[in-house]
Amino acid sequence: MKQIHAKFVLAATLVAAGVVPTGVWAQTARSPVAPRRELVESVVREAYEKFRSDTSGKNADYIPYLAQVDSKMFGIAIVTTDNQVLTLGDVKYSFSIQSISKVFTLALAMEELGPDKVFAKVGSEPTGRPFNSPLAVVDMPSHSGNPLVNAGAIATTSLISGQNAGEKWKKILDFYSKAAGEKLVLIDEVYKSEAATNTGNKALSMLLAKYDRIYADPFESVDIYTKQCSVGVNATQLARMGATLANNGINPATGQQVIKSEDIPHILSTMTMAGLYDGSGGWAWHVGLPAKSGVGGGIVAIAPGKGAIAVFAPPLDEAGNSVKAQEVIEYVAQRLNYNLYSPTSVGLK
Ligand code: DON
Repeated sequence: MKQIHAKFVLAATLVAAGVVPTGVWAQTARSPVAPRRELVESVVREAYEKFRSDTSGKNADYIPYLAQVDSKMFGIAIVTTDNQVLTLGDVKYSFSIQSISKVFTLALAMEELGPDKVFAKVGSEPTGRPFNSPLAVVDMPSHSGNPLVNAGAIATTSLISGQNAGEKWKKILDFYSKAAGEKLVLIDEVYKSEAATNTGNKALSMLLAKYDRIYADPFESVDIYTKQCSVGVNATQLARMGATLANNGINPATGQQVIKSEDIPHILSTMTMAGLYDGSGGWAWHVGLPAKSGVGGGIVAIAPGKGAIAVFAPPLDEAGNSVKAQEVIEYVAQRLNYNLYSPTSVGLK
């Protein structure tokens, strides 16, 4: 009660100071900085029209299933910390979450072990190399790099406890579903397609084993990791997962505390540093928001305290990041003044 009151007073003060427009204030006392709906709507529509006909990039094809996904699909979803939902385009199509899953397995690992153990066992350093690089495993002192590249992600998955693989997998899927606020399911065809071709990830798991940086059976861990990458999400579900991070671990739709608030800065800083792999530096320079991409064509970006934007468009750039998703998020983040590194993003004139 006391906390709600404090937020109420803070919101009123921000409105009085002209930092937050009254429209925001009228919506909720929960987040004094969530954006105004009309503004977000017009910016998202502009971005959609501006980039919809961009055909650059190419679907991922090293996972055969992904090569045949319709590359023209394009959807944008925003979920704010006060649970406003804005969607445009192909937001009902369920695509594979792929590497974006790594963020939520990291959150679950911290839930189970605490951040210090996860940091000691996986680390959080940029690799400066492609997401599936075996050279990074060999060269880096931590070997696993960070939880958002394949090697570090497989190591992170291996930390999840359970009597057997089935129990670990169920725990991961349930956790993702809580973050999405809806029951998520595996896209079996994606899983089979990747499981039949993931020799590179198996090699990474063996390398991790060589350096004692994997904490369960290596091939079992790769299999669970492959399943987590094959979870289906639509753009709205993905935006809600992102909004859970933006809302200090509380799912804004269900009100459930899914992730401990003290873990959020560890997750968001890791996303800033490695969320777009070897494209992360340029992304931080231009956009200034923690984000995570997946080769299924999704990217989710987080505006802490405000909300999350998820974009789905399958064609990828060289680093494995959706071209249109990057364009849209950069455009929207600039217009909504979301760049975390700009003091104006928190109201300073
Ligand atoms: O392990 C893999 O290669 C895929 N399941 C995930 C890679 C991925 O999404 C990289 N993203 N941009």
